[in-house]
Amino acid sequence: MSAQDSRSLERTGASPDAIISHYDMGEEFFRLVLDADLSYSCAMFEADEDLATAQTRKLDHHIGAAGAAGTARVLDIGCGWGAMLRRLVHHARVEQAVGLTLSPSQARWIRQAGDPKITVLEQDWRDHRPEKRYDAIISIGAFEHFVQKGLDPARKLDAYRGFFAYCDRILATGGKLSLQTIAYSEHHKVHPLLEKTFPESDLPLVWEPIAAAEGRFQLMAMRNDGDHYYRTLQFWEQNLLKNYDKAVALVGQSATDEFRRYLQLSAAGFRIGMASLLRISFVKKY
Ligand SMILES: C[S@@+](CC[C@H](N)C(=O)[O-])C[C@H]1O[C@@H](n2cnc3c(N)ncnc32)[C@H](O)[C@@H]1O
Repeated sequence: MSAQDSRSLERTGASPDAIISHYDMGEEFFRLVLDADLSYSCAMFEADEDLATAQTRKLDHHIGAAGAAGTARVLDIGCGWGAMLRRLVHHARVEQAVGLTLSPSQARWIRQAGDPKITVLEQDWRDHRPEKRYDAIISIGAFEHFVQKGLDPARKLDAYRGFFAYCDRILATGGKLSLQTIAYSEHHKVHPLLEKTFPESDLPLVWEPIAAAEGRFQLMAMRNDGDHYYRTLQFWEQNLLKNYDKAVALVGQSATDEFRRYLQLSAAGFRIGMASLLRISFVKKY
């Protein structure tokens, strides 16, 4: 491994414990907030449609952008509860979908369905060494965790470069990468509750993923759907309010109220344009 490669694999992101503290609140809780497929990222809306339809549109957007349909092997980095993995093998004719998560409860949830075309690994992407290259890579809502707070700008960008260098190494020639991430629209101070909700994680600035991919990937398309995240967060808050008593019974009143406040603060950030929601597709250069 070259010096650049080993530097790129430094542990610059959120630790498994930090991830577990949030995602292992448990499926029972997230089922009260999210759609039935447990997509925990921004949906993609058209007109006045419901959350589940918009979440499916989001999955299909990334499958299309990554050129994943009908391929043999697709990697989902940060697979959550597996909505993308299921869409890939059940609707997009993918032979084998591999998902990575740091959350044991998410991995258990996916495994219990016993789908032979789906493999889930409790693994940091930095540790994943596939025997064969993937035909396409998709990563939705995980890039937000790849850098810890407090890194100086050069090290932060270097950490993102490490991610693109890794994707380059494990992607087939001509393969595509479709990425979705929240980004800061510009430098600003983050609300302490958001820092508490996602300990150890920092967001990219809008330009950083593009700069970090330079030399490895060519940019194909990029859109900022911050208004779609505002709508998604509103649906989640409405769901939480509908199920308030059940949520309190599961995690207690203070955790439920804090979760609601985090949804509201995040929605406000998108509403006023402090936060952006990037959907970016890249093709491997050569
Ligand atoms: C907000 S969830 C998004 C899940 C899913 N993509 C979705 O849209 O529902 C973030 C996911 O990224 C995973 N994750 C965060 N950092 C990771 C890392 N370094 N390696 C692998 N997975 C990671 C978490 O475990 C979690 O599954």
